[in-house]
Amino acid sequence: MKKIILTGDRPTGRLHIGHYVGSLKSRLMLQEKGDYDDFLVMIADAQALTDNADNPSKIRSNILNVALDYLAVGIDPQKIHIFIQSEVSELTELSFYYANLVTVSRLQRNPTVKSEIKARGFNESIPVGFFTYPISQAADITAFKASIVPVGDDQLPMIEQTREIVKSFNRIYGEVLVLPKEVLPENEACLRLPGIDGNAKMSKSVGNCIYLSDSYEELKTKVMSMYTDPLHLKVEDKGHIEGNTVFTYLDAFATDDDFKNYYPEFANLKELKKAYQQGGIGDVKIKKFLLQILDNLLKPIRERRLYYEEHIDEVYNILKDGTMYARSIARETLKEVKDAMKLNYFDNEELVKEYKDEH
Ligand code: TRP
Repeated sequence: MKKIILTGDRPTGRLHIGHYVGSLKSRLMLQEKGDYDDFLVMIADAQALTDNADNPSKIRSNILNVALDYLAVGIDPQKIHIFIQSEVSELTELSFYYANLVTVSRLQRNPTVKSEIKARGFNESIPVGFFTYPISQAADITAFKASIVPVGDDQLPMIEQTREIVKSFNRIYGEVLVLPKEVLPENEACLRLPGIDGNAKMSKSVGNCIYLSDSYEELKTKVMSMYTDPLHLKVEDKGHIEGNTVFTYLDAFATDDDFKNYYPEFANLKELKKAYQQGGIGDVKIKKFLLQILDNLLKPIRERRLYYEEHIDEVYNILKDGTMYARSIARETLKEVKDAMKLNYFDNEELVKEYKDEH
């Protein structure tokens, strides 16, 4: 079986370091390994509209931002096709057919959709498009016969629903679609990086994100203002690491090499944690260490971003080429899907022949 990788992001804002550890990093690792037949990354503008219907300019203005973020982190357009969801109309057509294979109660049980409905205050006035976006996500994944989907853990319910749709489809219409599997970050802290205020999620509206495009100054201000341990008032005080955002970030980002290079008093994070808990380590010290690590990560990202910002026509062409390519693949799958569903009346004269045979 072919190894096809697909994933995507909603263009509702610039991407942040939560996106980086949650999913971009796995993409880069998979890209470097090179062990795949095809690799696509989608800017999910149609999905972003499902809860932003009244704000199309927001989505439009973030298309290039997200593309720039992709290229800046090192997604190589020679190896990965980047495309725009709404420009591949086959995806909406697939969704329409898949919708027959999903029940309302099944959609209601999707935990990610549930919590998003709550977070957006939709209550009883849930837009149908939003409610059914897991179906459209199944179309995104299956249109390219993706077998591997690198995502954060909030996307697991979508993959699960996709798998159910694939199974139903193949059972009823024949083996056409491919069962996808997720790739999650290995490191626990990377699954859901909290915001700098310690809140469970980085969110643009809360203003607690560190963006991939942040300048050194912005990064510094944010790291120095990070939520730590409110009981750790004096350096000598015993510190707590649970719920201490700086330590959660160190869990996600610090390597033993970082200790060797910037904090040689300790061999690794385990030792630093122990010392912090015993007292004697100031928050400023650990914040400066984290700042160094994050700046090392963001520096080359900023530089690549600058290059592409100055060559924005190149970015535009990358998106256009990627989208044409995605269309060509989705078109083939849609044809197979419709053939399997017997929706192919004008390919030949079979329909008339069947009628004549019957009469
Ligand atoms: N739901 C994803 C997000 O919110 C975006 C997305 C849309 C996606 N289609 C996808 C992710 C297909 C993986 C595969 O970021």
